[in-house]
Order: sequence, then structure tokens, then C-alpha cells
Amino acid sequence: MENNSKSENKKERNSFTGSLGFVLAAAGSAVGLGNIWRFPYCAAKDGGGLFLLVYLVFALTFGFTLLITEVALGRKTQQGPLTAYRELQPKWKWLGIFSFVVPFIIYPYYCVIGGWVIKYMFTYMIGKGSLAVQDGFFNSFISGSWQPILFTFLFAGACFYIVYKGVEDGIEKFSKILMPILAVIVIFISFYALFLKFTDSDGVTRTGLQGAKIYLIPNFKGLTFRGFLHICLDAIGQLFYSLSIAMGIMIAYGSYMKKEVNLEKSVNQIIAFDTGIAFLAGLMIIPTVFVFSDVDGLKTAGTSLIFVALPKIFNSLGIFGYILGALFFVMVLFAAITSAVSILEAITASYIDKYGWSRKKSVLILGAATFVVSIIVCLGYNVWVFKLKLPNGSVGQILDVLDYGANNVLMPLIGILTCILIGWVCKPQTILDEITLNGEKFNRAGLYKVMIKFIAPVLLFVILLTGLGIL
Ligand code: PFF
Repeated sequence: MENNSKSENKKERNSFTGSLGFVLAAAGSAVGLGNIWRFPYCAAKDGGGLFLLVYLVFALTFGFTLLITEVALGRKTQQGPLTAYRELQPKWKWLGIFSFVVPFIIYPYYCVIGGWVIKYMFTYMIGKGSLAVQDGFFNSFISGSWQPILFTFLFAGACFYIVYKGVEDGIEKFSKILMPILAVIVIFISFYALFLKFTDSDGVTRTGLQGAKIYLIPNFKGLTFRGFLHICLDAIGQLFYSLSIAMGIMIAYGSYMKKEVNLEKSVNQIIAFDTGIAFLAGLMIIPTVFVFSDVDGLKTAGTSLIFVALPKIFNSLGIFGYILGALFFVMVLFAAITSAVSILEAITASYIDKYGWSRKKSVLILGAATFVVSIIVCLGYNVWVFKLKLPNGSVGQILDVLDYGANNVLMPLIGILTCILIGWVCKPQTILDEITLNGEKFNRAGLYKVMIKFIAPVLLFVILLTGLGIL
């Protein structure tokens, strides 16, 4: 019976039309809030160009290995994350459950943040950008009773619609439209940021080009070995999140990739796109923040960067600031939607493959279930406010607890277990065979084997210990 429904699935299985569709959809997943609100912060904190270099080296080795493993795993098994591991190695089917739980935890709170982005985008679009800088605007909005739920609903509704339409007519079509627009906006704003100039009340003038120097020139001042290790860990952690690894997404997307597409080339293109946008986001944000608030302002990341610090800057640019603010939030929205869609697809694909549900039934039920969790997250800012001390030293409420559990515990754990499964149980050749399926030459086979067996699991273990507050 189960076999029957599986073979029906295989017959009906959606797929991307070709390499471009796959690459833009996967890049859409990779380019998200992580690129915009965390990469520039890491770069500013970790020695500018030094961080960029370290990041690039790890992207081409560590990131490449994990990403190609997940995509190949999906394409080989033709299954979503919940059942892909079982298909590969029946005794490891429980790892599929982990891989399913992560997107189920992340998606609801990502939708809440997506709702905040829509609220800000509307605020700028109707010319009310000056409201966004008033003290307490952000806090009073997120702790409101119905607005956050309404905006979350709008965001989740858009994601639902795209996934409901399917891989080709939904995800691929929208990625092909949204990703190029996003790239153009990022290029435009980052170029504009270089020409900013501001003289503060002390008569000190700062320019965008000076800010760009802080970003691009490696800063070795006071660098110790321990400090360098910290930079490496920051780069690995950022990379892991930025490439959407261990979230089940790349397995799901890989399962929709046509067998004739060159896997290595596509993975290289995803990494290039994601790293390129992260680099430009840094070029957009670091000079902008530097010009208006000096080096101290560069210590801001996350929600306070995009919902509090940047609106202040847009406000000081007068009428043009409104246009820039609107453009900026449109760009953030596109980045967030394409990421959220990928994670909803990972959940949906899992149920289609495991239970033989139709896409429509799957997305409807899972979309509704995750929306209930989103509402709980929204309520965490008004009726259920609490402050929990997390093992890594930070303090948070519902959204932060979910984020912490997924990013700091479950994802590194899934990464480590995947490395053990592929490196030691099934052997790297399983993945190498998929990569070279059409007779492609794979020059990095040696690097791949060493990475997946030894280096990647050790690095992930260190990330896990850091996240747990043990290191
Ligand atoms: N790569 C994404 C980012 O940088 O924001 C990570 C991600 C988060 C993907 C949440 C999908 C998602 F729903």
C-alpha cells in the first residue's frame, strides 16, 4: 500500500524546469534575513575584510560540502526530508523526523518577522516613514493585540499561495521574478550608500567611502589566535544558516531537480548568489550605519538593525529616505518570502512523500497548523510575555526560544548526524555517484571526502558546544 502511494508520487512528482529555475529557487531560500541583518554585523565586528576572507574560504569548502550533500541526497532519493533518510538507510529514518521538525519550528516565527516587514513596507509606501522612527513604534507594534497577527497572516497567506501553486507554477515562477528584482535593489542601494555624507553636531564629517573601507580592509589590530578562532566560528555559523543547511529545504529542492542538471555547477551558483548578496548587503548597511552613527552603530544586528536603526537613517535623508526605506523593505520582503516559501515547501513535501497526501491537502493542513504556532509567537509579545535565560547567555521569549532550539541545537545536530551517515555509514561515494551521474568530472572529490568525514562534523560539534554555552 505504502509502495503504491510512493510510486504514484514519483509519477506525479513536481520538478523545476531546468537548472536556472532550481538555482534561483535555492538561492531564494539561501538569501534571506540572515544575509541582511546578520552578515554585515558579523563583518563589522570581526575585522571587516578579514571576516570576508575567512567566510569565503569556508563557503567554498565547508558550505559547499554540506550543501551539495543535501541537494544530492534529495535528488538521489526523490524524497522530501522526512523520508529521504529512510530511503537511503532504513535504520536512520529517525533523522528524517529531526529534519522535519526544524522547518516546522522555524517557519511560524519567520512568518511573524515577515509580517513585521510588511508592516514597515506599508508604512513607508504610504509616506509615513517618519512614524517608524518615533520612540516605541516597533515595540508598541509587536506588542499590539491584532496587528501583528494580521500582518503575519498576510505574509503566511502569500507563502501559502506560492507553495499551493506548486514547484513550477509557484516557487520557480516567483523566484524567477523576485530574485532578479531583489538583486537590482541591493546593487542600487549599496552603490548609493557609498556616496552618503553626513556632518554630526561635533562638526565631524563621515562618508560612505570611509565606511566601505572599514568593511573591506582586513583589520588585524589586536588580533589574537583565540580571536581568530572566534571569527572562524562566526563565519561557519553564519554560513550554515545562510545556505539554509540542515533545515530540510535543500533536500526537498534537490528532489525536484532534474537528473540531467549538473549538480556541482548549480551548487556553485547558489553559493555565488548567496555570498554575492551577503557581500552587497554589507556594502549597503555598513557605510550607511557608519555615516550616521559612527562605529558604535555597527554593533547592531537583527531586529533592532532593520526595524529601529535603519529607519532612523532613512528619516535623516528627507523625502528620498522614504523612497529608499520603501525600496529597502520591498527587498527584505522578497528575501524573506522566498526563504519562507522554501521552508513551507520542505514541510509540505514531507507529508506528500510520507502519506501520499495531495499538495493542496498538505499545504492547507500544514499551513493552518503552523499559523496557530505563529499566533502563539505573536502572543508572546503581549499576553504571554516572559523572559527566559538561554544556555548561550541570551535572554528571550517564545520567538527567541524557538530560534535558539532550531539554530543552536537541532540544526548543528542534524548536520553532524548527516556527516556521520554519509561519511561513515553510507560512505561518500553514495553522494559522489549522484554528483557524477551524467559523467561529469568532479574535481573536489578528495576535498569532499575529507570534509564530510572529518572536518565538517568536528566544526559542527564546536558550533553545537558553543550554542549550548559549553564553550
Ligand atoms: N538562508 C536563510 C536566511 O539567510 O535567512 C535561512 C532561512 C531562514 C531559510 C528561515 C528559510 C527560512 F524559513
